[in-house]
Amino acid sequence: MAGIEYQNTKRCHMYITTPIYYPNDKPHLGHAYTTILADIIHRWFSLLGYNTYFLTGTDEHGAKLQREAERRGINPKEFVDQMSEIFKEYWKLLGIGYSRFIRTTDYDHEEVVRYVVSKLWEKGYIYSGKYRGWYCTACEKFYSEGEYITENDTPICSIHRRPLEYIEEDTYFLKLSLFKDYILKLLREGSIIYPKHFSDEVTSKIEIEGLQDLSIARPKTRVSWGIELPFDNKYVVYVWIDALLNYLTGLGYPKNMDRVEQYWRNSIQLIGKDILWFHTAIWFTLLAMLDLPPPKKLLVHSYLTVKGQKMGKSLGNVVSIDDMVKRYGNPEVVRFIIARIANYDKDVEVSWDIYDSIYTGDLLNNYGNLVRRATMLAIKTLNGSVVHDLDEEFARVIDKLKEQAIDLYNNLEVSSAVKYALDILHETNAYINRKEPWKSSTPNQTIYTVLEAIRIASLLLYPVMPVTVSGILHSMGLDEVEQGLQQFKLGYIHMYNVRISPIPFKKL
Ligand code: ME8
Ligand code: MG
Repeated sequence: MAGIEYQNTKRCHMYITTPIYYPNDKPHLGHAYTTILADIIHRWFSLLGYNTYFLTGTDEHGAKLQREAERRGINPKEFVDQMSEIFKEYWKLLGIGYSRFIRTTDYDHEEVVRYVVSKLWEKGYIYSGKYRGWYCTACEKFYSEGEYITENDTPICSIHRRPLEYIEEDTYFLKLSLFKDYILKLLREGSIIYPKHFSDEVTSKIEIEGLQDLSIARPKTRVSWGIELPFDNKYVVYVWIDALLNYLTGLGYPKNMDRVEQYWRNSIQLIGKDILWFHTAIWFTLLAMLDLPPPKKLLVHSYLTVKGQKMGKSLGNVVSIDDMVKRYGNPEVVRFIIARIANYDKDVEVSWDIYDSIYTGDLLNNYGNLVRRATMLAIKTLNGSVVHDLDEEFARVIDKLKEQAIDLYNNLEVSSAVKYALDILHETNAYINRKEPWKSSTPNQTIYTVLEAIRIASLLLYPVMPVTVSGILHSMGLDEVEQGLQQFKLGYIHMYNVRISPIPFKKL
């Protein structure tokens, strides 16, 4: 378990980040996967009262973007200006409540990169040398021997399934190798990377291959689209060094060190497993070179796959966000489905059949149906006014499930937390069937208890579907979601004033 404490939440700061994506095309469901999970985590901790800062954005420099702009016949800056707007539109559609959308072409970020690279140069961590090796532009990385696969004598990238290019050039290296023992120690202590097996994966890679110095500069003759190296204007900074530093720019580094300190200690960084190496060996070393600790948590998830292959632009097997939004009518359903299927350990195959059955089973038949039954009953039998009167025995059942869900959320296990919220709704549907309040002359206690259970499940689902859940709470007469754990207490509401409202989910 990730073990995040949640006491004194009002004074706690929390920093949540996603990778910054390459805007060489519009985002697909794979990008939505990480971004939605991060937003749910961010909204969960905001609901508890944390002072959260949530950063996402686009990674706009480098050969990959330069080539895509060339292919489209426009200049790279114009291209990334257009594409980053498209990312923002998708995140707006999906209700991603980021605090800042960072672009690596933002002026403050370019300043940070120049500052850091100069500092590393002054500290003697950078030296000039020659690089020879195989490069994947889709990954923006050099592949070591044994890391790539060979087909018909051609080295191929194992992620993008494309031939690598042989590159030989003068460059500058960063002395990662100095930090090998430091990184191994961090990884072996084993509490940063979650789930832990990803930590073991990086450890064994370093044990086998060592930690090689990293080429951090590109000659402008080959890659011109980037941030100029402060001490040699014939080069630009390697795009991954540029990109990783976005997480510091987002906090106001190096000008606002108080703020960096407050948030960085409580940082949760989400990534897909494709970029694990960059976010451990390279990132933790860069931080150490700047005398900064690693993040508090690096939360890694596996792939969304189509016929067993990682969904991606390079393989051309993407599921579009638009298709999924259209299918369910409500964009928040996309968030819910992602939360349900999310799996850190294992790849998840995209399946419309599974998505449809999640929609129908969980939202239409379980949640939607319960809300409709309970609100109709309250209106028919009590004119909508339901006063405080809790069935303590049933409340204990709900309490246990609620505690589990809260613990799971705090441990970043979004998908399991959501399952417990759904269990509350199942139990409550069964409870109504058992109690048959429509036959009773005193239905208030049962209906109040049912509304309380719906309210608790709704609070648990609020980070997943904020607008939809607000609508449901509104139909129960609750117009504001508070911050803090106190509202999770069963019996917290004094009185319900239920209103007639439309059903939030429609048949497919
Ligand atoms: O790597 N399954 O950007 P990128 C799960 N710019 N997650 C997926 C996915 C899939 N099929 N496809 C994409 C980069 N993702 C760099 C990052 S960070 C300093 C720089 C998600 O556009 C997942 O989070 O290739 C993955 O790590 C990320 O998108 C890669 O996005
Ligand atoms: Mg990629």
